[in-house]
Amino acid sequence: MNNFTLFTPTKIRFGKGQIAKLSSEIPKDAKVLMLYGGGSIKRNGVYEQVLAALDGYDVHEFSGIEPNPAYETLVKAIAYIREHDISYLLAVGGGSVIDGTKFIAAAVDYPGDPWDIITTGGRNIRSALPIACVLTLPATGSETNCFSVVSRRETGDKQSFGHPLVHPKCAILDPQTTYTLPPRQTANGVVDAFIHTLEQYLTYPVNAKIQDRFAEGILLTLIEEGPKVLANPEDYDSRANVMWAATQALSGLIGAGVPQDWATHALGHEITALYGLDHAQTLAIVLPALLREKRKTKREKLLQYAERVWHLTDGSEESRIECAIEATRVFFEELGIKTRFSDYQIDDSGIPKLVAKLTEHGQTALGEHQDITPEVSERIYRAAV
Ligand code: NZQ
Ligand code: ZN
Repeated sequence: MNNFTLFTPTKIRFGKGQIAKLSSEIPKDAKVLMLYGGGSIKRNGVYEQVLAALDGYDVHEFSGIEPNPAYETLVKAIAYIREHDISYLLAVGGGSVIDGTKFIAAAVDYPGDPWDIITTGGRNIRSALPIACVLTLPATGSETNCFSVVSRRETGDKQSFGHPLVHPKCAILDPQTTYTLPPRQTANGVVDAFIHTLEQYLTYPVNAKIQDRFAEGILLTLIEEGPKVLANPEDYDSRANVMWAATQALSGLIGAGVPQDWATHALGHEITALYGLDHAQTLAIVLPALLREKRKTKREKLLQYAERVWHLTDGSEESRIECAIEATRVFFEELGIKTRFSDYQIDDSGIPKLVAKLTEHGQTALGEHQDITPEVSERIYRAAV
């Protein structure tokens, strides 16, 4: 096991009725800005629950944070916050709202151009407003981690930053808030969490048994519960298991002390920036092609994955690896997430642009061995057409 430092300071309040506990978490004299997306929280009662919980507080609102949050939208909140002396941010929604709120929290007192926060990966952040969140879409893990992904529409960039100061202070996870998710977003969440787990698991062995077995537990849970939440959206226990799996998939725990490979995410973000596909759709396109490309360097972990997650123990090593990759792809398809560019009416003509953007963003030595060069990325994109 490699050395690691793990810092997970977010207080989690999980379960039915937890939104009402917001007043125990946010100081009574705070001037609160509640941030949300396109209005799903107004249609499913979450908005009312939050306002009821904050009765007596000075609450302001900022809405319209879109999926793959746009820098152009987020900067509008900065002026409002300064003008109204806001002291606490409350994000209510999915990963996009929480990520957007993290960016805003860091940008309010940032000297200079806020876009520098993104291009420097968050290195120069010195302060951030405190954040609490109410999660309504289990997928990204943003509710307890320190990462944020922001898109700049005018330049076609989608990039991330991270800083310990943007860890939410508190995350409210009530699985009932996810009952109203459309099937596409439910499936996106399962696939995103599954791939977060794989990117910290499918590298090479370092004898990290806790991390491996915890990762396998998350994968097995998502395989079992994913189809159930699609079939029965109001199955509380299944929703709860999916929600907790997604949080744990990117809270830091399974990635501590192990090699990681975020190449699928790097390649996927460029696809969203160019074509506007959902985050999870891009991952489902890239991952199978990437695993086939890197099957030699990932051999030992792929065999472990085949045996412990897909129960594949017969046949040659090569055939077990191929069956495990294929089982993963079929799992995504069965959830309703297509796994090839052509399924989204995209041909190979944009691949040079995707590779050029990866290079522009410095994503030229990806993977656990830093051996996914632009040429390898291009092969992966081409294999996924
Ligand atoms: O905007 P509203 O009206 O709220 O609707 C949203 C949105 O249209 C809807 N939705 C959310 N909760 C709902 C609901 N609809 C009905 N009922 C509910 N309970 O779902 C749509 C998608 O929401 P979004 O927040 O965009 O989805 P997700 O949580 O998948 O977030 C995706 C973003 O997170 C980034 C992605 O790149 C993408 O920008 N990621 C962030 C990470 C992190 N911070 O650690 C890691 C991830 O790998 C990922 O890159
Ligand atoms: Zn993701």
